[in-house]
Amino acid sequence: MPDFVGAVDQGTTSTRFMIFNHNGLEVCKFQLEHEQILPRAGWVEHNPIEISTRTSAVIETALQRTGLHDTDLAAVGITNQRETTVVWNPRTGRPYCNAIVWQDTRSNKIAAQLERDGRGEVIRRKTGLRPDAYFSGGKIQWILENVDGVRQAAGRGEAVFGNTDTWTLWNLTGGARGGVHITDVTNASRTMLMDLETLEWDDELLSFFGIPREMLPEIRPSSEPPSYGSTTAYGPFGGEVPITGILGDQQAATVGQVCFSPGEAKNTYGTGNFMLLNTGTELVRSERGLLTTVAYKFAGQPAVFALEGSIAVTGSAVQWLRDQLHIIRTSAQSEDLARQVADNGGVYFVPAFSGLFAPYWRPDARGAIVGLSRYNRDAHLARATLEAICYQSRDVVEAMQQDSGVVLDVLKVDGGVTSNNLCMQLQSDILGVPVSRPVVAETTALGAAYAAGLAVGYWKDTDALRANWAEDRRWEPEWNDEQREKGYAGWKRAVSRTLDWET
Ligand code: G3P
Repeated sequence: MPDFVGAVDQGTTSTRFMIFNHNGLEVCKFQLEHEQILPRAGWVEHNPIEISTRTSAVIETALQRTGLHDTDLAAVGITNQRETTVVWNPRTGRPYCNAIVWQDTRSNKIAAQLERDGRGEVIRRKTGLRPDAYFSGGKIQWILENVDGVRQAAGRGEAVFGNTDTWTLWNLTGGARGGVHITDVTNASRTMLMDLETLEWDDELLSFFGIPREMLPEIRPSSEPPSYGSTTAYGPFGGEVPITGILGDQQAATVGQVCFSPGEAKNTYGTGNFMLLNTGTELVRSERGLLTTVAYKFAGQPAVFALEGSIAVTGSAVQWLRDQLHIIRTSAQSEDLARQVADNGGVYFVPAFSGLFAPYWRPDARGAIVGLSRYNRDAHLARATLEAICYQSRDVVEAMQQDSGVVLDVLKVDGGVTSNNLCMQLQSDILGVPVSRPVVAETTALGAAYAAGLAVGYWKDTDALRANWAEDRRWEPEWNDEQREKGYAGWKRAVSRTLDWET
């Protein structure tokens, strides 16, 4: 058995390739960002060709830097930004248009029409989701209706859909020279097209969006022996490595954080924040604005489900301070700036740039900075931004506890923003529970590697993965209850000011 397992993490802002050893420790990481294309307010696109070129580049560079070869890898896993929609011609490998990113709100009208047509209830019951521009179904419909020739091409088998897991897998397994057209259950569970009970595409749902079934990839488990397909000698690996794991990035982080028992949860701080609570093999339906989603399905075992609280804008609000307001030069500087003041000075920032996701689901919301007085300065805004990340997570925790009855005694965290120690302290203060960060904070790539490694016996079982988890740092609450409740009440008032802006 080769010594290592690889993972491609095709995320919203960058694509990285990581190599892990048997202890789940990082051997190598290399990543490249890609362009965020923002053609109009509310639209967010990526160039799929740029993504596949950068995927090849990060793999090649990581292998060169470590001196490792395809033969050193027991398997490769793929994890990805979910929902982002690519439609391409499988004969030529050319996409018909840019990828429509999960944050893109252009299909708001399609989602609203579904509710008006009385289809919302069927969608909620079958998919665990709610009609919203966030999910892939409306994005595919938008492409079929608005990009010249795609509907006709789909009829000829010349237009296929994939999220970026499928696009990456198809390219790595040969592309137009025989790439496989496959997704996994976790990604499929974010399309509004899969029935959570059958784990198959559903004809009634497809008819709501007018999507031909032939466009869709085959749905497979998240970890699959012998493989979905192998990499090719002419691709970036330079040889045949089995690709045996696929998980949407938030589900991958759940696996990387070894949340294998019902009641275990993780919160990932990336472009957005995504909290997932393992609910076991039982489908728990939310009464409070959370989504029901597939957490993972390992080959030969039943699917495990999760309740998810999705927050659209967290780390990207820090990027906004950097790129649009220019009050910091690097995201990390948000911590130094925010530390220059003892509190938020009465300022709340609700970064509802794509409307508000969980638990509000208000596409009409837009961002607001409230509570300003002449006393306030850049540092208060930086602090309010970090607090916004934490208050949005508190909204989700409240909903999760009410829906599931599970009371969190510790919050496991991961993702880029968790290197911001002030933000993690604030998270503990705002929630009133300890916050725990693992040694390997790259849990997304790790989870994909775990799914791939389990399939080929590189790791024996989930107990072997549990044994790899270790805590790096823990934050304990420092605020008293009065501070905490006063702060949260202010946040709720600020949120109420953001609603009804966009109709
Ligand atoms: O649902 C969207 C999510 O999968 C994106 O995650 O980490 O790429 O921002 P990330």
